[in-house]
Amino acid sequence: MTHLRSLTLNENAQPVCELPVLTGSTGPNVIDVQALYKDTGLFTYDPGFNSTASCRSTITFIDGEKGILLYRGYPIEQLAEQCNFLEVCYLILNGELPDAPQLSSFEHNITMHTMVHDQLTNFFKGFRRDAHPMAIMVGVVGALSAFYHDALDIRSKKDREMCAIRLIAKVPTIVAMCHKYSTGMPFMYPQNKLSYVENFLRMMHATPCDDYTASPVLVRALDRILILHADHEQNASTSTVRLAGSSGANPFACITAGIACLWGAAHGGANEAVLNMLEKIGDVSHIPEYINKAKDKNDPFRLMGFGHRVYKNHDPRAKLMRTTCYEVLDELGLHDNKLFELALELERIALEDDYFIEKKLYPNVDFYSGIVLHALGIPTNMFTAMFAMGRTVGWIAHWDEMIADPEQKIGRPRQLYTGAVQRDVPAGHKKTV
Ligand code: CMC
Repeated sequence: MTHLRSLTLNENAQPVCELPVLTGSTGPNVIDVQALYKDTGLFTYDPGFNSTASCRSTITFIDGEKGILLYRGYPIEQLAEQCNFLEVCYLILNGELPDAPQLSSFEHNITMHTMVHDQLTNFFKGFRRDAHPMAIMVGVVGALSAFYHDALDIRSKKDREMCAIRLIAKVPTIVAMCHKYSTGMPFMYPQNKLSYVENFLRMMHATPCDDYTASPVLVRALDRILILHADHEQNASTSTVRLAGSSGANPFACITAGIACLWGAAHGGANEAVLNMLEKIGDVSHIPEYINKAKDKNDPFRLMGFGHRVYKNHDPRAKLMRTTCYEVLDELGLHDNKLFELALELERIALEDDYFIEKKLYPNVDFYSGIVLHALGIPTNMFTAMFAMGRTVGWIAHWDEMIADPEQKIGRPRQLYTGAVQRDVPAGHKKTV
């Protein structure tokens, strides 16, 4: 461990404290400021956490300058090419890729937990049919906490593993139920003989009158989407899950906090926003108008699917998603897909524009995922729920890592207070009862 020796905090420019600098296995070093307040009476100020590492983690590494994303050390490109989603789930949860017996036992466990308690179906009835699927997800995944609470000991590794299995297994069932509920169709039960992705697509698209078999290319495309969304280190929703979990709250409730955070358009809601934006742009001739709106400081419009807090070169997930887009549209014979053409042209024009070049704004994963999901027959308002399905494993892995961490404390940030200083309520002010 090295130490930052010259942190100057007083008027005489004399160093007043020495802060340790911690080194990880790769990536930037961090200044350990845990003792800063105790030693100096000062807090750090970092709204948006631009320069703050909130925890130690061994799960995912991102190098935003080089466009590198690793799950447990493995490059996302290799995982997307050589593994399926459940193998990646196992890797994220356990740190190593499974061997054949481990994978088969993991798949079996997931398959055996895909059904939801029948009582849970009643929760849907409280929602309007036109409720946004993410609103229903927040309600129904949150309701799982009522089914798995008293018997759950979060200090038990076995119980935490069971939580992970239940969530990875049941979230697709709930996502598909959200879709069926909004279209007024009966819920479709999971089928154990199908793979994770085949089962999900069947629960989405089959009806009691008509079965559904997905084409292998579409299964592979959705599997890839899930892999690309599986984890992304301390993003907003994962940090929300960690913060909620830091108080010892029920993990199903904590995952729901993550789902709520994901819903926002700056985060997972961007995939839905991208498709709505492309539909609004409508034609390549309108692109310059929208580029100008995005550049206008007085216009709140942003080019959805562009920019990332960490990636400042390219988002490796976007590259893979773009390739998947070609594959899926090819398979479906949709070469002249209007939305895809529009997206490619928007990307081309934006990438040549000084504003986007200077601010290092590149297409992110959500720029293309919507087009693939659209081609898979997933309704636009379901896109963010699909993201939640992929990210569930990341959320639960981070929650587990945090609970098992001996350094773990309740997350409790401080603030720079800028409100009124202490004052008295006017003497004549009387309480009205
Ligand atoms: N269109 C136009 N201008 C943009 C955009 C955009 N999409 N993104 C950032 N900027 C500008 C922004 O106005 C600011 O300009 P200035 O420095 O002149 O004030 C500058 O770029 C930096 O932006 P920021 O908001 O300070 O950057 P951030 O790191 O806080 O935000 C972001 C990152 C992803 C929230 C943002 O780029 C954004 O809103 N993008 C659109 C939404 C989106 O696609 N989100 C999905 C992210 S990837 C999936 C996920 O991880 O959930």
